[in-house]
Amino acid sequence: MATPEQLFRLDGKTLLICGASSGLGRAIALDAARLGAQLIVVARREALLDSLLAELEGQGHRRLCLDLASEEGRALLVAEARNLDGMVYAAGSLGKLVPFHLLREDLLEEQYRANALLPLLVTRALLAAKAVRNGASLVYLVSAGARISPPASAAYSGSKAFLAAALRSVALDVVKKQIRINSVMYGYVLTEAMQQLAVSDEVKAMAPLGLPEPEAVTGAPLFLLSDSGRWMTRSSMTIDAGLTLRQKVGI
Ligand SMILES: NC(=O)c1ccc[n+]([C@@H]2O[C@H](COP(=O)([O-])OP(=O)(O)OC[C@H]3O[C@@H](n4cnc5c(N)ncnc54)[C@H](OP(=O)(O)O)[C@@H]3O)[C@@H](O)[C@H]2O)c1
Repeated sequence: MATPEQLFRLDGKTLLICGASSGLGRAIALDAARLGAQLIVVARREALLDSLLAELEGQGHRRLCLDLASEEGRALLVAEARNLDGMVYAAGSLGKLVPFHLLREDLLEEQYRANALLPLLVTRALLAAKAVRNGASLVYLVSAGARISPPASAAYSGSKAFLAAALRSVALDVVKKQIRINSVMYGYVLTEAMQQLAVSDEVKAMAPLGLPEPEAVTGAPLFLLSDSGRWMTRSSMTIDAGLTLRQKVGI
């Protein structure tokens, strides 16, 4: 039986963190390395990946600077990422808040592609290349927006709801390999990307527990990656500071 100190350790696990150059992905990568995992960190901004690599505890981490939106990027990923015990898919786009009557087709498509299509394409490519070990844990960052659908977020909220629903189906397809698929449904987290959105104080105030920094909310994905999380699949953990407790938004 694991001692309390061992409960969430990640020693011996090779983990892929997609979207590790900033925000939640970066914070999760730093803590996963502290817990003993060996990481492959992925994003487009090379300098940020290099500075992350310099900060990661432990040895043997690698970085892949690539664009997951391109076929070449995904081909490079599957060529380099092997024997994965887990993945955190934190690459995504918060987009812009746009009132529905101003929502253009290109923004709708961009959000759908970044937040719904790409995580599925990346997952499919990794599975097809047998880059994911039996028993692995795959964790996706979705959003409380998928549930509360705040104003001016039809593209973003819709894209995350699509992903959450699709993942529940994927979980059934891979369970025979003991591969687990779970998501973490975050509320507002004070990343730079989130702070660039003009979210109204009224909407932010809907989270009665306040707004956390990314470093404060890494626990759920780390739990899901650890052996302690091995009895969970097809689930979503809600880490939203109470945002979804209240359903009336901005009206
Ligand atoms: N912050 C929040 O309040 C919040 C709430 C709920 C859910 N989430 C979700 O959590 C995830 C992370 O959000 P965040 O706030 O941490 O934003 P962020 O700092 O912008 O993180 C996004 C990460 O994804 C990477 N990325 C984006 N597109 C990519 C691509 N095509 N190829 C490779 N890497 C790509 C970015 O790196 P490069 O630009 O270097 O490629 C960056 O590392 C998103 O899925 C977001 O929807 C965030």
